[in-house]
Amino acid sequence: MNKCVWLLFFCVVFAGCEKGSDEPRVAGRWYAQSQVELGRKVYAKYCIGCHRENAQGTANWKERSPDQSFPPPPLDGSAHAWHHPLGMLKRVIEEGGVPLGGKMPGFKDKLNEKENLAVISYFQSFWADEIYNAWLTRGGLK
Ligand code: HEC
Repeated sequence: MNKCVWLLFFCVVFAGCEKGSDEPRVAGRWYAQSQVELGRKVYAKYCIGCHRENAQGTANWKERSPDQSFPPPPLDGSAHAWHHPLGMLKRVIEEGGVPLGGKMPGFKDKLNEKENLAVISYFQSFWADEIYNAWLTRGGLK
């Protein structure tokens, strides 16, 4: 093979690696757009019934229901999901709120790690940069 062909060969190989490597992150965020897309599907299947369209949750999420439990809060950055670092959000989704006296079921039998992170990236895609950056400052990526 002459040099040109080798060069072409390496270009193709490197281009392939480039494509297979980590997809670029959404600007300023920890996740890629493909995670948000997967998360959208997970959310539509498992979460939307309680946390509603666009993760808006219940308007009066701070008011206890007659049984003393809290209604599903918004996850769109308007309530306090942003007070919890990534590891804790993951755990809430795995274990649900029942161990803490809440109502939310756990999803550890239904979602794998990838789907769990994807659904977090989906509701975080609704967070304004201001909220997201405040979450980062509080150590959100822990
Ligand atoms: C049956 C209703 C229900 C379903 C389904 C549900 N949740 Fe929840 N979720 C709640 C309630 C109610 C709370 C408040 C804590 C509690 O009572 O357990 C909550 C709390 C949360 C919190 C903590 C928010 C905060 O501000 O601290 C997160 C994160 C969350 N849910 C994510 C999800 C995700 C992701 C899904 C889908 C995989 C989901 N939930 C499915 C009812 C639900």
